[in-house]
Amino acid sequence: MAKSKVKSIAVLCSGGDSSGMNPCVRAVVRTAVYHGMEVFGVIRGYQGMLDDQIEPMTARSVSNIISRGGTILKTARCLEFMKKSKRKKAITNLQRRGIGGLVVIGGDGSFHGAHYLSMESKIKVVGIPGTIDNDINGTDFTIGYDTAINVAMDAIDKIRDTAASHDRIFFVEVMGRHAGYIALEAGVAAGAEDVLIPEVKTDPDALVKNLRDGLARGKTSSIIVVAEGDDAGGALKIAAVVEKKLGIMSKVTILGHLQRGGSPTAFDRVLASRLGVAAVHELAMGRSRIMVGVVQGKIKTSRLDHAWKVKKPISREMLKLNEILSV
Ligand code: F6P
Repeated sequence: MAKSKVKSIAVLCSGGDSSGMNPCVRAVVRTAVYHGMEVFGVIRGYQGMLDDQIEPMTARSVSNIISRGGTILKTARCLEFMKKSKRKKAITNLQRRGIGGLVVIGGDGSFHGAHYLSMESKIKVVGIPGTIDNDINGTDFTIGYDTAINVAMDAIDKIRDTAASHDRIFFVEVMGRHAGYIALEAGVAAGAEDVLIPEVKTDPDALVKNLRDGLARGKTSSIIVVAEGDDAGGALKIAAVVEKKLGIMSKVTILGHLQRGGSPTAFDRVLASRLGVAAVHELAMGRSRIMVGVVQGKIKTSRLDHAWKVKKPISREMLKLNEILSV
C-alpha cells in the first residue's frame, strides 16, 4: 500500500450492538497498526466523542476479543449528536488528538452522524454496516445478522420440539423494528408455517386460512415467526386476533435481546474482519463519506448517504420459498 494519507484514525461502535463488532474493532485496530497509523477507540459511540472518552489503542488492546459478542468499545444511541453545536465539540475532541479519519461501525442512524461530522470538518469517515437487522443498502450482509438468525433459528428449533409434543400453535417474535430480514431468514431456516414482516401487509384472515388449511392437510402444530415491526403490532397482538378467529389457543415467545448476544458465527467474524481491513484501506487512500460492504462475495464501497436514502429490498424469492415449503 502507498503511504497513508491519514496518519491517525479513531474507531467507534454506535447504535444497537451486534455480535461481530469486536472482531471488526480488532480488524480496524490491527490494520491501522500494520500500516503504521496511530489508532484510538471512542468509548460509547458518539456519546464518548462528546464526553472526550477517546483512548489510544494498540494491537494488544484487541487481543482475545475475536470470539466475544458485544463490543469492548461499548455503544450508545446518542440523540445529542444530531445537534450541530454538540458535533462541534466532538470534532474539537478528535482534532486535538490529530485524528484525521473515523471508522463508524453501526446502522444507518449512526452513519447520519458520521456524514454530518465529515461535512463540518476535514475528518474523513468510513462506515461499516453493523446491525443484526441487515437492513442497510449497499451490502448483502451486515455484521451480526448471521449470528442473530442462528440464535433465532436455534430458539425456534427448541420451540418446535414442544409445539409438536403439545400440538400447539406458537407465535415467535424476533427483532426487526423496520425490517423483516431476521424473521424471513430465521423462518425459512427453522421451517416456519408463516412469516409476518413489516415489508408485507399482514392479513389476519389469510393467516387464519393458512393455519386452517394446514390443519386440514394434517399439520398438528404450527410456528409463525413475527418481526417486531410487523404492522399487526407484534406477536402478542396478532396471536390474540388469530386465537379469536380460529378458536384455538396459541402460545407466544418473544426472543428479544437474546438475538443481539453470543459469540459471533464464523461468517460474522470473517465478514467483520474483511470490512474492518477494507475500511482502514479506504481511509488510507484518502476516501471519505463511504460505506464498505460485501456484494456477491466481493468488497464494494457505496455512498454513505445511500445507506439511508436507498431502501434495501426484501427478497421476494425467500418469501415465495417459505410459502412453498410450508405446504
Ligand atoms: O439494533 C437493531 C435492533 O436490535 C432492532 O432490531 C431493535 O428493534 C432495536 O435494535 C432495539 O433497540 P434497543 O436495544 O435500543 O431497545
